[in-house]
Amino acid sequence: MSLFTHYDHTSLPLGADGTPIEFYQNLRDEAFENKTPIGWSEELGGFWVVAGREEAQTIYRDVENFSSRQSSFPLYETATKQRLMLAEIDPPDHQRYRSLAQSAFSPQNVRTLKQQMHHVVDQLFDSVEGAPTIDVRASLGTRLPAAVTALMLGVPAEDGSIYRSWVDAMADSHLHPEESEKILSGMKPYFDKLIADKRRNPDGQIMSDLVHARLDGDALSDRELLDFFSILLIGGLDNTALLLANIVWHLANDDRLRERLAAERDLIPSSIEEFLRFYSPGKPARVVQRRVEVGGVTMLPGQILHFALPIINRDPREFENPDQFIADRFPNRHLALGSGIHRCLGMHLLRLELSVALEALLDRIPAFRVHPNKRVEWSCGHVEGITGLSIVVEQSEAASYA
Ligand code: HEM
Repeated sequence: MSLFTHYDHTSLPLGADGTPIEFYQNLRDEAFENKTPIGWSEELGGFWVVAGREEAQTIYRDVENFSSRQSSFPLYETATKQRLMLAEIDPPDHQRYRSLAQSAFSPQNVRTLKQQMHHVVDQLFDSVEGAPTIDVRASLGTRLPAAVTALMLGVPAEDGSIYRSWVDAMADSHLHPEESEKILSGMKPYFDKLIADKRRNPDGQIMSDLVHARLDGDALSDRELLDFFSILLIGGLDNTALLLANIVWHLANDDRLRERLAAERDLIPSSIEEFLRFYSPGKPARVVQRRVEVGGVTMLPGQILHFALPIINRDPREFENPDQFIADRFPNRHLALGSGIHRCLGMHLLRLELSVALEALLDRIPAFRVHPNKRVEWSCGHVEGITGLSIVVEQSEAASYA
């Protein structure tokens, strides 16, 4: 039986290393040996699984035949019960909304946050200074993206755990609808206060800009503003936290790479692209609009397709030695940040954030390994990656780097 048949991204088989990487490699090998870059899964009501890079690119570009109205699968629930802002909006509205947020996320604008990011990262590393073991998720993985997202949005960083609970509730609503609804009911009153404050005191950050923006001459409604707030929290918190933990896990298992990056800092940008390719935390979906043929299969209106990005980004037709981590891989045309009109809005932000974090990690904790007595926990779903990781700091080696 094909491995596609029971593919379920919300519950993947984990290998001895605690990750689904071996499963992805097996599915990838099956797909390309049998020349089936797209397969059908019987799980979750049935859906297409896209494994080939070329096919994924074709679908991303074809916004006529493939709608984003279900780019999250299963669907996220939002406090307004609307589809996700930007991510689940099709043209022409998508472009109108995106143009309001685009310049805040430009490389130039994002660079203005660099000093503050260094400061946040330094504080986080100060808080674990001298500790023999570190819980990566708790001390860095969730706190850094929450702090950076708060800076970007112009919202209080100390409320990071509240934002986290909303993002989890939006993502898990298909599992616990009542509980999620209860948690999300707290979002509107919080948000109303925030918006009232931004109306009175513009601060030049994205939420304030959106409050004062005009779309065809009109201000955005409170519902639209809350939808923006929701997608920016989802985008800012989830993927980056998971990828950050994966990077630490990877480096804990690969001393040579860690030492190489410490010595050759100019490899950091290309290695971040390679980490994105290797672990690809996000997995968007589309809905078929019309009968269409792609990758040797016929898709019918209403069917859902899912981009299996960790497999797409190991397509041997595109990537030489796809299972090898190559810090200076070039070209590296991965699709971990999507492609086309819905390409990740936060791509410059996350690149800067990850490079500031990686620099600091190499400086502050030069040698470490995975804690031998603590399990690595991998979380599956709309986004995936390591949610539980402890490392042991190797003090003697650390001293020799100092
Ligand atoms: C490692 C970190 C990240 C990864 C892997 C990632 C991945 C992605 C992917 C694959 C998409 C395309 C979705 C689709 O095609 O349907 C996307 C869209 C998006 N991302 Fe990210 N993302 C990351 C971080 C961020 C950050 C930090 C933000 C900023 C707050 C952000 C905001 C968004 C938004 C708003 C969209 C929707 C764009 C649109 O539909 O026009 N992301 N991201």
